[in-house]
Amino acid sequence: MNGSAPNPLTPNPALYRVPFTTDDFNGMPYRQLGSSGFKVSNVGLGTWKIGYPETGDDSRIGRVEALKLLDRAVELGVTFWDTANRYNEASGNSERVIGEWFRTHPDQRRNVVLATKIFGGMDGRTPNHSRLSRGAILDAVYASLKRLQLDYIDLLYFHRFDPITPVEESLAAIEDLVQRDLVRYFAVSNFTVDQLKIYRAAEISVRSRIVAVQNKYDILNGESAEHQGVLAYAAAHGISFVAYSPLAMGLLTERYLDPAKVGPGDRLYDQGMHDQYRNEAVRTKLEKLTQLAAGWGLSLSQLALAYMLDLPGMGPVIPSATKISQLESNAAAGRIKLDTAQKTAVLSILQ
Ligand SMILES: NC(=O)c1ccc[n+]([C@@H]2O[C@H](COP(=O)([O-])OP(=O)(O)OC[C@H]3O[C@@H](n4cnc5c(N)ncnc54)[C@H](OP(=O)(O)O)[C@@H]3O)[C@@H](O)[C@H]2O)c1
Repeated sequence: MNGSAPNPLTPNPALYRVPFTTDDFNGMPYRQLGSSGFKVSNVGLGTWKIGYPETGDDSRIGRVEALKLLDRAVELGVTFWDTANRYNEASGNSERVIGEWFRTHPDQRRNVVLATKIFGGMDGRTPNHSRLSRGAILDAVYASLKRLQLDYIDLLYFHRFDPITPVEESLAAIEDLVQRDLVRYFAVSNFTVDQLKIYRAAEISVRSRIVAVQNKYDILNGESAEHQGVLAYAAAHGISFVAYSPLAMGLLTERYLDPAKVGPGDRLYDQGMHDQYRNEAVRTKLEKLTQLAAGWGLSLSQLALAYMLDLPGMGPVIPSATKISQLESNAAAGRIKLDTAQKTAVLSILQ
């Protein structure tokens, strides 16, 4: 895929005087991924809902809009892109659209950190088409690389824990993938503390070390009941907690303050999750947080993201965006640093 990537033998004056080291890109601060030397943008981009909606894959953002979002994301320094092979009805379409973007932007490969996830069945229905056996892992990675039109995946997640396959077998497959430079870093998702401990105990070398755990977290709901304690564990063990659904699928935005105005096009409405924004106790909190944010010149979603980014152990956040304006607003949150008084004020509403 790198056929038209810049030739390192050709002088490129545009790249003269690149700084020796830097901690940001296009104005976006970066943070370390776990205890590795690898860095990712404070605010990334979730791409779950990118696909081909016209095919009935249950995505919400078609390729034309998605390609524009990806262009703008790089301009804003939102370079940590999160996908999964199964997103949108196990179609692989999120990876396909991202693959089209990479094919048309070969010069941007190193500017983007691409994370994807494997576990579930994708291209077949036998018991060997899913889970984390050696064969299932290798075949899933080969297929993702093809869809993504890439030579390597920056960060590969196991989408969930596999209670059947020996952990040593799964980790040995990761070691091989890293040695072959098909995968650069390894992470897990939807893991409990006990499952993380099992993996850490079985770690073979730095190549199969978990650098991140991606679990659900937002400031209203915190961690899910099943995954309590993972954020604290991550903070104590040099693992980045990558929060998914950090805006509670849009609930932590002003658009749900008046349920009468919620309708088609709003994600929670479209997904039938009406109980969330019709809950009065939740709405009271949203109203108070919105007022607080407005007093600081922020939107509710920016307050939510900025607050999360300062929690111990919290890695990057990966909100989805359906519009460029959402992406721009979320990106701005990556540069906001709340002071102690501000964080106390937020906490007093959340408690
Ligand atoms: N590992 C896993 O199992 C797992 C599970 C779920 C998600 N994820 C990852 O996490 C990413 C993010 O999660 P998510 O999409 O579930 O939820 P989210 O990021 O909390 O919410 C995204 C939704 O919020 C709305 N939104 C975003 N920015 C906004 C802004 N600035 N102003 C107003 N509204 C805004 C949009 O809603 P509208 O569409 O209504 O405009 C968008 O669809 C996914 O894309 C995926 O990469 C991983």
